[in-house]
Amino acid sequence: MSLRTLFTKKALTRASGLGPLAAAAGDRGLGLGLGQARGLTAASLPDLPYDYGALEPAISGEIMRLHHQRHHQAYVTNYNNALEQLEAAVAKGDAPAVVRLQGAIKFNGGGHINHSIFWNNLKPVKEGGGEPPHSALGWAIDTDFGSLEALVQKMNAEGAALQGSGWVWLALDKGSKKLSVETTANQDPLVTKGLHMVPLLGIDVWEHAYYLQYKNVRPDYLKNIWDVINWKYASEVYEKETA
Ligand SMILES: [Fe+2]
Repeated sequence: MSLRTLFTKKALTRASGLGPLAAAAGDRGLGLGLGQARGLTAASLPDLPYDYGALEPAISGEIMRLHHQRHHQAYVTNYNNALEQLEAAVAKGDAPAVVRLQGAIKFNGGGHINHSIFWNNLKPVKEGGGEPPHSALGWAIDTDFGSLEALVQKMNAEGAALQGSGWVWLALDKGSKKLSVETTANQDPLVTKGLHMVPLLGIDVWEHAYYLQYKNVRPDYLKNIWDVINWKYASEVYEKETA
């Protein structure tokens, strides 16, 4: 099997955990940012669905610009470079090189997947950011956590307690249809916890996501980010995956 076949859009869509919604909407619609480059199916930086300053005061425009243009772009660039090296290593039958590249692919590919989800998890207040989920997801949150407030408290506590860098997730288990709060280290995407785990909401707790505005006070960032959470997106993914 060629690498072109291995790294198809379908495969990466599945790896992102976005599942059929992404497939139905197309990668551009959900910001997965895949495109053809140099003969490989390469990743590309997706556009943000809002202006850099549109999430203020919860997240500053300066943070959003750097986060998107520098950090996410670096994951995309490094992931594509690693894929190119992988293709060469496979073509040469260089097994040590193939194995050596797995870390870079996981870290940078994970960074691309996670940030592509994260941008869609945010929404300006004037466009409905922070409006609580209604209908099916709202009921499921009440059932599995007691209330939305209890879920927020749990995610904030687990996000604040996460050592070093990583992500805190509201996850859906496609098998049991249960919601849970999960954390992953570094840039590990939620799918590393199982193909059945679907990310409804992921919050980036790397310092680069908040330090310029909140310094070392991660709990304040976590407290304020709920003002710009896009529950409509989470609800759409939930309804698609539980249909
Ligand atoms: Fe980030």
